[in-house]
Amino acid sequence: MSVSVLVGSQWGDEGKGKIVDILSEKFEIVVRYQGGANAGHTIRIGEEQFILHLIPSGILRENVACVIGNGVVIDPQALLDEIKLLEESGINIKGRLFISHNAHLIMPYHKLLDSISEKGTTKIGTTGRGIGPCYIDKYARKGIRIVDLLDKVELEKKIRENIAEKNNILSKLYDHEKLNVEEIIEEYLKFDDAIDQYITDVPHYLHTEMGKGKSVLLEGAQGTLLDIDHGTYPFVTSSSPVSGGACTGSGIPPTKIDSVIGIVKAYTTRVGNGPFPTELLDEDGENLRKWGAEFGATTGRPRRCGWFDAFMLKYSTMINGIDEVAITKLDVLSELKNIKVCVAYEINGKRLNSFPTDSKKLDQVKPVYETLKGWEKDITDVTSYDDLPQLTKDYLKFMSDFCGFKIRFISVGPKRKQTIQI
Ligand code: GDP
Ligand code: IMO
Ligand code: MG
Repeated sequence: MSVSVLVGSQWGDEGKGKIVDILSEKFEIVVRYQGGANAGHTIRIGEEQFILHLIPSGILRENVACVIGNGVVIDPQALLDEIKLLEESGINIKGRLFISHNAHLIMPYHKLLDSISEKGTTKIGTTGRGIGPCYIDKYARKGIRIVDLLDKVELEKKIRENIAEKNNILSKLYDHEKLNVEEIIEEYLKFDDAIDQYITDVPHYLHTEMGKGKSVLLEGAQGTLLDIDHGTYPFVTSSSPVSGGACTGSGIPPTKIDSVIGIVKAYTTRVGNGPFPTELLDEDGENLRKWGAEFGATTGRPRRCGWFDAFMLKYSTMINGIDEVAITKLDVLSELKNIKVCVAYEINGKRLNSFPTDSKKLDQVKPVYETLKGWEKDITDVTSYDDLPQLTKDYLKFMSDFCGFKIRFISVGPKRKQTIQI
């Protein structure tokens, strides 16, 4: 039996979906532990492409059970749409999906408040999925949870209470028209019929299955630098994508975690606003976007692109306790003559000892680069480490020596077979 946590080590979109799909050949249960439909995890199987937002990326392997933990915030309509899409592709969901009682529900007012908040002075560049406002209600102890779907009287009462408060805020603070409470009650009362069958006491289920020797992979969404506590606050999401969040978001205790796997993109991307020291606003950045098809899987927004930031990765490795990594999208660098890697930050000519998460400070840092020679060869068909060009191996060795992690997988394309295991 083994329990592993898989985390995004940068600002999200590292290729977590692809690697979870690969790893789930060997795991029996995959659990999402935080975030919501802000995530977009892409899996390519042959010519077919699946983008999963809420359902764990193990769903494409029929023997894998998939769990949505208490730490996730669920938009019930987005969930049902995703189930429908998967079923239309012939994937069986029934009996394989387990949703925690304690997961919170995204309500229409969360999405509305998300978009209103983005019109304020600090624009985060959110995905507009209502994530922040839903976690606000969770921590204010006003949230509506999956379990509430089971008691229609209680559900209606909670919706009325919440909407009374939200309508006050909308009309008095934002001069916005009030929401129609009856319409929302009608919409949400119906979700019970479709979702009831998946509702599970998740900690009990997971501990029972682990007791039988089953292996569990905890699938993080977003990335370390988007973490509410350890990321580039306030330009972060509102949950805990780091490995520590896997325990609170699932009910699996730290003593049961055997390993932490980091997903590391061979360069850096970021969607939305906030500091990005190695961002490239020139032709190199445009090329990375073009070669890497760097457009958001959830919102379609162009992703900001930049050099690999090894200084940041050292921080991410420390915060997550990363043991081993999958390097993804290595093929995207294949046309470059020279590849830069950030190894330190300077402010006013002085090197920093540690990674500053403070956004203002990060905006001021000057990255210090080392330049490595590019391999300038197509590697998308390479299937073993030995067959990689020596200069590619040098780049990988530089990353692993500098950041202090062991490379276990190398991804050289979006497809399953474009994965090298070491
Ligand atoms: P996630 O959110 O971390 O799961 O990542 P996304 O799915 O948002 O973005 C990763 C994108 O890169 C997807 O379009 C994947 O199909 C694609 N991808 C994953 N691994 C590789 C790779 O090694 N090479 C290339 N070229 N594309 C990859
Ligand atoms: P996956 O799981 C990349 C970013 C948004 C925004 C910030 C806050 O696919 O890697 P939110 O809607 O969460 O309140 O937005 O976080 N963001 C992501 N960026 N990948 C993601 O998920 C993201 N989920 C949120 O762009 O900057
Ligand atoms: Mg994504």
